[in-house]
Amino acid sequence: MRTEFPRIFSEISIRRHRLRNRVVFGAHTANMSDNGIPGDQHIAYYVERALGGAAMIVVEPMPVHAATVLTRGNFRHSDDTVIPAFKKLTDSVKQHGAVVLQQLYHVGSHGDSDLSYHPHWSPSGGPSYHDSDGSHTMTEAEIEETIAHFVAAAVRCQQAGFDGVEVWAAYGGLLDQFWTPFYNKRDDQWGGLLINRIRLSREILRRIRESCGPDFIVGLTVSDEPGCPTALTRDEIAEIIALLDQDQLIDYVTCGSGGYFDYGSLMPTFLYPERLGADLSARLKKVVRHALVIAESHIRTPENAEITLGEGAADLVSIVRGQIADPHLVNKARSGAAGRHSWMSVMQSDVLGAPVAGLLDQLCRQSLRRQGSRVGRRSLAPGRAATARPGRRRRTGRHGSSPRRRGKRPQGGPGGSLGPSGRSISARGRTAAPRANPRSH
Ligand SMILES: Cc1cc2nc3c(=O)[nH]c(=O)nc-3n(C[C@H](O)[C@H](O)[C@H](O)COP(=O)(O)O)c2cc1C
Repeated sequence: MRTEFPRIFSEISIRRHRLRNRVVFGAHTANMSDNGIPGDQHIAYYVERALGGAAMIVVEPMPVHAATVLTRGNFRHSDDTVIPAFKKLTDSVKQHGAVVLQQLYHVGSHGDSDLSYHPHWSPSGGPSYHDSDGSHTMTEAEIEETIAHFVAAAVRCQQAGFDGVEVWAAYGGLLDQFWTPFYNKRDDQWGGLLINRIRLSREILRRIRESCGPDFIVGLTVSDEPGCPTALTRDEIAEIIALLDQDQLIDYVTCGSGGYFDYGSLMPTFLYPERLGADLSARLKKVVRHALVIAESHIRTPENAEITLGEGAADLVSIVRGQIADPHLVNKARSGAAGRHSWMSVMQSDVLGAPVAGLLDQLCRQSLRRQGSRVGRRSLAPGRAATARPGRRRRTGRHGSSPRRRGKRPQGGPGGSLGPSGRSISARGRTAAPRANPRSH
């Protein structure tokens, strides 16, 4: 079939897998789990994007340890009871031709103990972006425990049928906290020289490889925060990726943008330039010899994807909000019918966030109906999709107080839990749209 986008629709190999095109549905916290388990609605959400043509799907992050539970919708961590539901998810997604991975995350100092009921662990202490409790310097034993939990989570993913995992070293999470002198002030084998600061990520990646074998895909996510004083520069990130790539510890690296201290760029609106992740991906393309490079963030449209691939700035592109908005974006690009939902970057806008989230809810229900599930047949009154029932205010804090009242930062994005425009949302599992927080930061 002739296509306007020949680069998008060329296959590529990763480990023993053949990806049918170059478009990834990147990791994002959809917060739809039911008591920590993906249910029909959550599974249908991913299946619809596989049906719609995405070549690789990275399922939302699994917190690897109690210390990193960040939302009430997070998957159940450290617990084999998740395996049967994830097996259903992976079987269904793979049946429709997509490769499926899960992201594994640890937020380090930026935890929320109202939800984790656990102290925050970090390289050298320091405040959390999400609450006022602060974190403590990890002991040697806590570092070892963290490595073991990452590996156990990866093994669990493999048992659940995932083709691989994506280890999160982006946005100011634990692994990039160890990389970054702003966070890491240790003078032991985990701090100081670069080789020490990357020891934790290297150990995690090495032991995952060792435990999961040669067919299992191991990816890494990093983020570009140019000019942000708390973050590494592109050259510094490139140096780290070159070292990890040299030891063939990663099969791909995804380049997002922004971070907890630069939240606007993490899910950039139309006020930001297009193709934000492509500058870092182009830089990393120059240093890797083995790993594939994925550009993410504000790629948005098939046209942008084709340009990014054509410039050699990436091997693959990840389009997140574009495929949230239109699950069949990839197939439509192939047939020349894409474009209707390319305004999706408004999702983080205060003004437009609520209607967009309502639309997402409807789209998700349509998917379920098409896939024949009972959940999609339940009707929701218009306007109620992504908002609370009157009188049932969302309770986030341990004592039921809202983050706004307690002076906490609202959570969005990697771990988002508030509704559009900061409005309260109904009980977990009732809403179908990913809950980003447009008034964030
Ligand atoms: C609702 C939402 C939740 C997100 N959660 C995560 C997350 O848990 N982990 C992560 O690495 N990125 C997360 N992201 C960031 C996306 O992966 C992506 O980098 C960002 O949306 C920009 O890409 P886009 O312009 O294609 O949407 C999230 C994005 C959205 C919209």
